[in-house]
Amino acid sequence: MSFEALQTFLADDMKAVDAVIRARLHSEVVLVRQVSEYIINSGGKRLRPVLVILSSGCFGYRGQAHHELAAVVEFIHTATLLHDDVVDESDLRRGKETANALFGNAASVLVGDFLYSRAFQMMVSVDNMRVMRILSDATNVIAEGEVLQLLNCHDANIGEEDYLRVIRYKTAKLFEAAARLGAVIGNGNPAQEEAMAQYGMHLGTAFQLIDDVLDYSGNSTETGKNIGDDLAEGKPTLPLLHAMKHGSPEQAAAVRHAIEHGGLEDFQTVLQAIEETGALQYTREQAMREIDIAKAALDALPDTQHKSALIQLADFAVDRSF
Ligand code: IPE
Ligand code: IPE
Ligand code: MG
Ligand code: MG
Repeated sequence: MSFEALQTFLADDMKAVDAVIRARLHSEVVLVRQVSEYIINSGGKRLRPVLVILSSGCFGYRGQAHHELAAVVEFIHTATLLHDDVVDESDLRRGKETANALFGNAASVLVGDFLYSRAFQMMVSVDNMRVMRILSDATNVIAEGEVLQLLNCHDANIGEEDYLRVIRYKTAKLFEAAARLGAVIGNGNPAQEEAMAQYGMHLGTAFQLIDDVLDYSGNSTETGKNIGDDLAEGKPTLPLLHAMKHGSPEQAAAVRHAIEHGGLEDFQTVLQAIEETGALQYTREQAMREIDIAKAALDALPDTQHKSALIQLADFAVDRSF
């Protein structure tokens, strides 16, 4: 099943999720609507909602809460993107100008807050204490991840474990929560819920590893984002850590300088170091390892169409170019 086939398989559910998203974006405040509709309408893969739907589908869930919760995780994701683009000073997302570029930093931060708090209103409406605990814990961990990353920026001395911790917090945690929620509302047993959570966490880790590869090797038309943003910010992602460790002393010094000073002056030199040390291949291999663990976790679940789709989703996460 390709990503398109997956979208077709879930078309009815995703339509329902979209209806919830649209209804819940409402605000009397015009700027809130403008900014939130701008980013929501600019697309996005809707992966985290897909995860909620597929996970609950593995347990034959037959209610409506999966659509609401899918919208909740997309709102939380969207809020983090609004904030992330301000912090990262990015000006391109989903193939369009970022909200901060168009409406300014203040509007982006404040509407991000609106989306976070709207997500909390929605999750409370589901009226399930476990659900609220999972989502409030995840949101808190994501915030810690972004702050940890801020601390690591321009620091060329961080290790792979520090990098891994950041991506588990800032990205994998929401994937984990989305997958776990499906098991919770679907009344999975504790072992199944844990398996789902493991699947989501490893999938999300792989997803961010590939995001960090695409920041060096992707095509901006496909990713909808600027290539080289991570280097410009001095973000010590895994490709750079690997190039520093395995490059010549000159290459290591050039990468270190690029991390410490940011900017794109050293882009070509850094790219060459990345190339010659096989840093992207190494990062991809780490992503594939995570994906293997994610898939293995699914062994604890009964075979269903939804489970097969989760396996396809895992393959997409590493094969993707957008
Ligand atoms: C972007 O996530 C942020 C990361 C965690 C890398 P997505 O790639 O899922 O963004 P959209 O929603 O599809 O634009
Ligand atoms: C992902 O990090 C942001 C969050 C999960 C909050 P990135 O900074 O790598 O995401 P992009 O590349 O801007 O989408
Ligand atoms: Mg960013
Ligand atoms: Mg990125």
